[in-house]
Order: sequence, then C-alpha cells, then structure tokens
Amino acid sequence: MKPQRFLIAPSILSADFARLGDEVRAIETAGADLVHFDVMDNHYVPNLTIGPMVCAAVRPHVSIPIDVHLMVRPVDRLVGDFAKAGANLITFHPEASDHVDRTLSLIREAGCKAGLVFNPAMPLEWMDHVLDKLDIVLLMSVNPGFGGQSFIGQALVKLGEARARLDAYEQSSGRRIWLEIDGGVKVDNIGAIAAAGADTFVAGSAIFGAKDYRATIEAMKQAVAAAQAASARARAEQQRRYTSA
Ligand code: DX5
Ligand code: ZN
Repeated sequence: MKPQRFLIAPSILSADFARLGDEVRAIETAGADLVHFDVMDNHYVPNLTIGPMVCAAVRPHVSIPIDVHLMVRPVDRLVGDFAKAGANLITFHPEASDHVDRTLSLIREAGCKAGLVFNPAMPLEWMDHVLDKLDIVLLMSVNPGFGGQSFIGQALVKLGEARARLDAYEQSSGRRIWLEIDGGVKVDNIGAIAAAGADTFVAGSAIFGAKDYRATIEAMKQAVAAAQAASARARAEQQRRYTSA
C-alpha cells in the first residue's frame, strides 16, 4: 500500500464539550486521521480549555492518534501527564519552553512523537538545530487562542519555506517530518494550503460547525489529493524539462 501522504486532524476545540465522547467517535467514523487536542492555559494564550484528565477520558473512545497541541507556559511539567493520558503526539511553542531541546527529548522519552509550533510571526530558524528530534512541525495560520478565526494568507509563503527545509532534511537524512497547519482551514482553501506544502490539516469550526462531518472531511480529502497530484505532475514536468535540456 502507498504510504498515506496527508492527514486530516479535526480540532475538538469546536466540538460539543458536553458530548465529547460522541463527538470524537463521530469524527473517527467520518474518516479523521488524528484528534487535534488544543490545550490552553490562560497564561501563554488568553483562553482556558482542557487538560490531561479530559485526554484520558477521550482516549478509550477512539483508536486514531491524539495530537496534543500545548499552548501553555511552562511546558515540561505537563508532558508526562499527557503521555500517561494517552497522547500520541505532543507539540509545543518553542518560546514557551526555557530549554527547547530538553522538552523535545522529554516528549520522545515519554513515548510520544514530538513537534514544534510556530506562531505567525515566529521565524522558522528555531527548528534548525533540533530537526533530528522533530516528527512534526506545526505552522499556525491564526494567532493561537481561539477557534473560528480567518486564515492568515502569509502562512502560505511560510509553508513553502518550511516545505523546502523539511524536504532538504528528508533528502539528507531519509527521515520524514510532517508539516501541519492550524487555523482557518476550510474546504475552499485547503487545496491551496496543500499546494503550498502542508500535509497535515487541523480544522475545527469547518468540521464541527458542519452538519455532515463525513461529507466535509471527504471534501477536504478530495481537495488535498487533487492538489498533491497536481504538484507531483508539475514536479515531474520540471524534472523532464531539466533532464532533456
Ligand atoms: C487555535 C487552535 C486551533 C483551532 C482551529 O489556537 O490551535 O486548533 O481550534 O480552529 P479553526 O479551524 O476553527 O480555525
Ligand atoms: Zn491547535
């Protein structure tokens, strides 16, 4: 089987919290690849959401991985709690940790995949010296703290730059790092976001605000697959011209 080239990660920030078990089961049935779990602390971001106890409560309801996005400061103390609560992937904002390399090691030693999150104005250089410890890079396409905000267009340019860095790393190391995008992702812009280089797509309000989760996830998958196929064709054509020149 061809390895899957993209992942859809509904953010439960926009789910009905009174029915969280039903909601995560519904998105898994509807074809979601990850559960995106937004943790906010009213300190690093101006909002307060859910923690490890809710993660542990959600865990038995789904078999897909739980993608924990920590918007908290400090970071380290929560890592072990989330690993025990069944998180599979833990990402954090580097400026919220005093020792980024150590936090990445803590996450990996706890048995989870690890990633860094870049706010819209954060330079990508933060990833350069820790690539070997990264499984995923998450670019924010809104300022973190709330669901339902509009996609910041500049994120498309930044995605292209991140894609180039991660492709170069994959070429030299043989190891793939996923590239996730979070904020304002909808059915009508996800194709352009995929073309810019993202392969993992968080969507909160677009999925949980829709009547039919399956139809929405399906439409997103089709748009991403079409964009990835078009990019692959363009790359092959470029290669053909280059080799026949
Ligand atoms: C924002 C969160 C996002 C948010 C996305 O701080 O990290 O995951 O839920 O919500 P939408 O898709 O509605 O922009
Ligand atoms: Zn998030």
